[in-house]
Amino acid sequence: MARDLRPQPSRRDFLRASSTAAAAAALPLGVAEAAFGGGGDTLKIGLVGCGGRGSGAVVQALRAEPRAVLWSLGDAFADRIDNLLAMLEDEEGPVERSRIQVAPERRHVGLKSHQPVTDEVDVVLFATPPGFRPMQIEYAAEVGRHVFAEKPAATDGPGIRRVLAAAEEFDRKGKCFAHGFCWRAYEPWRAAIREIHDGRMGPLRAAYVTYLAGPLWHRGRKPEWTELEYQVRNWLYFTPLSGDHLVEQAVHSVDKVMWAMGDRPPKHVTAQGGRQVRTDPKYGNVYDHFDVVWEWDDGAVATLQCRQMEGTLGENLDHFVGATGRMDADGWAANFVVDGDFPWRYEGPRNDMYQTEHDELFAAIREGRPLNQARQMATSTLAAIMGRMSAYTGQRVTWDMALQSKEELVPTDDAWDLDQPLHCEVAMPGRTRFL
Ligand SMILES: NC(=O)c1ccc[n+]([C@@H]2O[C@H](COP(=O)([O-])OP(=O)(O)OC[C@H]3O[C@@H](n4cnc5c(N)ncnc54)[C@H](O)[C@@H]3O)[C@@H](O)[C@H]2O)c1
Repeated sequence: MARDLRPQPSRRDFLRASSTAAAAAALPLGVAEAAFGGGGDTLKIGLVGCGGRGSGAVVQALRAEPRAVLWSLGDAFADRIDNLLAMLEDEEGPVERSRIQVAPERRHVGLKSHQPVTDEVDVVLFATPPGFRPMQIEYAAEVGRHVFAEKPAATDGPGIRRVLAAAEEFDRKGKCFAHGFCWRAYEPWRAAIREIHDGRMGPLRAAYVTYLAGPLWHRGRKPEWTELEYQVRNWLYFTPLSGDHLVEQAVHSVDKVMWAMGDRPPKHVTAQGGRQVRTDPKYGNVYDHFDVVWEWDDGAVATLQCRQMEGTLGENLDHFVGATGRMDADGWAANFVVDGDFPWRYEGPRNDMYQTEHDELFAAIREGRPLNQARQMATSTLAAIMGRMSAYTGQRVTWDMALQSKEELVPTDDAWDLDQPLHCEVAMPGRTRFL
């Protein structure tokens, strides 16, 4: 691991990313774009959130566009930037070293590092905890950059509204936006959903999907961390940051359901859940299981079971039931078995969906083609958020209630304060109020 020889950020720096030097070093976007569009040699990429997924996304972006260079990095913590650079700059690294051009003044530390990173690049990749995503997407829309944003889009209703507003701005400015709902880039799934949309098993009546998983990581606590740093380092367990595991992890299954249903918003949702095994305070306020039932105007229903518990069955199944047939898919085995009135089996190629997401984004940028998946991302995310709202409150939640919700889980952009931990209580159905 690379030793951090730079001055450690002060508590204030942690919140307000170093931006002066960066702003001075930034190339006006128009110049870089003109060069690229005119057959020039570089497209500058920035990454915000240098953890597990960000490390993968940045390599996929560089592989997707041979003329792209990694120009700028941002993370809440310097050690995460150092770890990523050590991996990328290694002799045996995944991409040619000459393409890693992150000068020291373009390594931005802080919860708002997305601002300097976005300012100085052509394409920005967001892979931080989801609670920060609306502020990041909104900023990229405002300054007009191409975006790849990991799922989910937000953790609350107000965040979804910000992403929907930003979607308009990407259209207006002709900027591309791709999301990280990766199954939408998987060819076997694309073929399967085409079968459903083509009506090969009649109108879709029901879906039953599962995301039954084991526990995920916990990064512990260090005495020098403030409470907010502890929460951000262990973001999975705090609803404002992750949205809870229904919104953070099982949202992949929700997205497949929404895709199959033609991205039509459900009428309402009824859900329940709780915290049965993961009760230690170190697990913040999130639940460890949910059962969710959505219903659409035409009577179609979808149910989801999701869980994160040690020693339990692991399963990621999708069952779609149409009027005349049925389709069953095993996400983890990537094995499509179809039952019903239309015998069909996927026999085409299997692709790396994470790579395809970036290949398609950069092809659109290169060719000046419109690509805007921000509304789709917001819609699938809200379908998951409304499930959590229903489970937390014990009430039926309609689409409009969720979309108009006034519950702001994350502080406003300027109100992040290291001495102010996020307020996270375990929700109690029947007592927790819908806002
Ligand atoms: N599509 C997929 O299959 C997939 C898989 C894994 C994760 N994800 C998504 O990717 C995102 C990141 O997940 P991960 O597993 O990489 O988490 P991670 O904890 O490994 O990485 C997150 C990084 O963001 C940094 N960070 C936190 N707050 C920040 C802020 N305000 N500004 C800048 N950096 C900040 C953290 O320090 C950390 O380095 C999540 O939205 C997650 O849901 C998607």
